[in-house]
Amino acid sequence: MDPLKARVRLGYSRSWVVRKYSLIGLWPSEVHLTRKFFAPGSRLLDIGCGAGRTSIPLAQAGHEIVAVDLATPMVAQTHALAEFAGCRVRGVAADAAILPFPANTFDGVLFSYNGIELVPREAGKRAVLSEVFRTLRPGGHFIFTTHALEAFNRYAWDRLQRVLDQLGRMLTFRSIADEEFGEIIPDPSRNVEVYYMQINSPRKYRRMLRSTGFGLRYFNSRSRIDALKPPGWLADFDGDFKFYVAQKP
Ligand SMILES: C[S@@+](CC[C@H](N)C(=O)[O-])C[C@H]1O[C@@H](n2cnc3c(N)ncnc32)[C@H](O)[C@@H]1O
Repeated sequence: MDPLKARVRLGYSRSWVVRKYSLIGLWPSEVHLTRKFFAPGSRLLDIGCGAGRTSIPLAQAGHEIVAVDLATPMVAQTHALAEFAGCRVRGVAADAAILPFPANTFDGVLFSYNGIELVPREAGKRAVLSEVFRTLRPGGHFIFTTHALEAFNRYAWDRLQRVLDQLGRMLTFRSIADEEFGEIIPDPSRNVEVYYMQINSPRKYRRMLRSTGFGLRYFNSRSRIDALKPPGWLADFDGDFKFYVAQKP
């Protein structure tokens, strides 16, 4: 396994991280979008399911759920919490870039809480998008969220410094071969949740979706959805998470 991916798996396999993700419930923005884009009784794939935060309420809402996570302890916790909640979720430990399902299996796919940013490198994210495209049935929707490189929030100054540092290295011909734009790779000796993350611009995700074959049906920020504001260019820049709804033609 790619060493960066192995770090992500290790990070999300620790018991305190599993406990942290054990609060079950969809965000209001997720309730809104899953009702709008997942028809009642859909067969859904919940990628990066964590401890079942989204899988369990979607199963309770009447969908058939297959839940996938890179970290086996997360899948075990999803099973335990689903049983406790009295609903059925089929959990599978798997990598989103190599999904163990036939083509055209799912009516809808979810990769919530910025999970796609934990997939190392642009090539890794493209592999995930291709797998989601392959396993979705034609007409099916894929909902996911990200941060944004250009978002105005309390992390904006840190992000700007990192971007300037990377630009400086490119301009002075110092190697950036070991790092891609937007990557955050904390020292592995620190007991932090995230051992790898890459924050891109929504423009980049739009490009990647287009080149995979998806159509982007909806894009908005979480706070704008919560405030019932329509999509618009401002959504790229506010401080909140970004929601994408892509459709396989
Ligand atoms: C930020 S957590 C979110 C968990 C859950 N979706 C939630 O909202 O509570 C991201 C999850 O994605 C999983 N993940 C990261 N990379 C993955 C990959 N390549 N394939 C499958 N799951 C992955 C992690 O193990 C982690 O459980």
